[in-house]
Amino acid sequence: MPIRAGSYTDELVQTAKTIASPGRGILAIDESSATVGKRLASIGLDNTEPNRQAYRQLLLTTPGLGEYISGSILFEETLYQSTTDGKLFVDVMREAKIMPGIKVDKGLVPLPGSNNESWCQGLDGLASRCAEYYKQGARFAKWRTVVSIPCGPSALAVKEAAWGLARYAAIAQDNGLVPIVEPEILLDGDHPIERSLEVAEQVWAEVFYYLAQNNVVFEGILLKPSMVTPGAEHKNKASPDTVAKNTLTMLRRRVPPSVPGIMFLSGGQSEVEATLNLNAMNQSPNPWHVSFSYARALQNSVLKAWQGRPENIEAAQKALLIRAKANSLAQLGRYSA
Ligand code: 13P
Repeated sequence: MPIRAGSYTDELVQTAKTIASPGRGILAIDESSATVGKRLASIGLDNTEPNRQAYRQLLLTTPGLGEYISGSILFEETLYQSTTDGKLFVDVMREAKIMPGIKVDKGLVPLPGSNNESWCQGLDGLASRCAEYYKQGARFAKWRTVVSIPCGPSALAVKEAAWGLARYAAIAQDNGLVPIVEPEILLDGDHPIERSLEVAEQVWAEVFYYLAQNNVVFEGILLKPSMVTPGAEHKNKASPDTVAKNTLTMLRRRVPPSVPGIMFLSGGQSEVEATLNLNAMNQSPNPWHVSFSYARALQNSVLKAWQGRPENIEAAQKALLIRAKANSLAQLGRYSA
């Protein structure tokens, strides 16, 4: 195993194992202020700091959440926020046995010389930001880059995505944060599932090539892949069994068993669809913990129940627990709709 500078290796391995523990997964609430603004707008709320704080407080103070949720990814603003009675969110999380995580990328910009594709910024100053986030209580990080099937993907875009992820992963590990490696292959397009499988294999091959070149400790990372599905505009929808078969084929071909956890994104699937697909993947033993790191598939019904009204907080927290428990059961392969 490569020894990383700063000798966080043992702690990284332990952190990754804790997040990838049976029946638990990640609650992703790391939407940028612009993106969470869209969620708030969907229930008629303005995108103000107090509204963002109120929403994140509702989510993070849900009683009993730690039974199903082992970690939550935060946006930088949330990492430094407190509850209305003055307790830091990171302390609330620690008491609930939910590890604080932090989104560290700086978002997507156009990739010159590509086919209208993008690349992910954020390597400049990353080491010092990671060190600060660790001090504030973060123990894992996330970097999301995207690959578009309808736009190619071009060899250049795939290489850039993979190299950026690998550089980020090495820097995060040097600073004690377990990197979540997320090359999101977007659902957009009318391609069949076979094309998604082909692209996913190409992307993950390159990601692991550069992770190895950067001496990243595989035992101290987590992956956040897209499930292998047909494009969103394809004429046929795939059953959970088909999604599971294709996704597991990709993982078995590309992901070493030393990686502790595969924490899927929901990528625009409905809440129940995301749960059923995860459940199908856990019908037989896997070499890795196969679980969830959902944002929309955990939050959609919470927002609907909340509507920004204090009297609905309890109902909204119940809605979160229902989805968290369903996905916990799916992680164990025991969910039925
Ligand atoms: P979705 O589950 O909504 O696709 O979000 C994934 C993500 O990357 C958030 O961290």
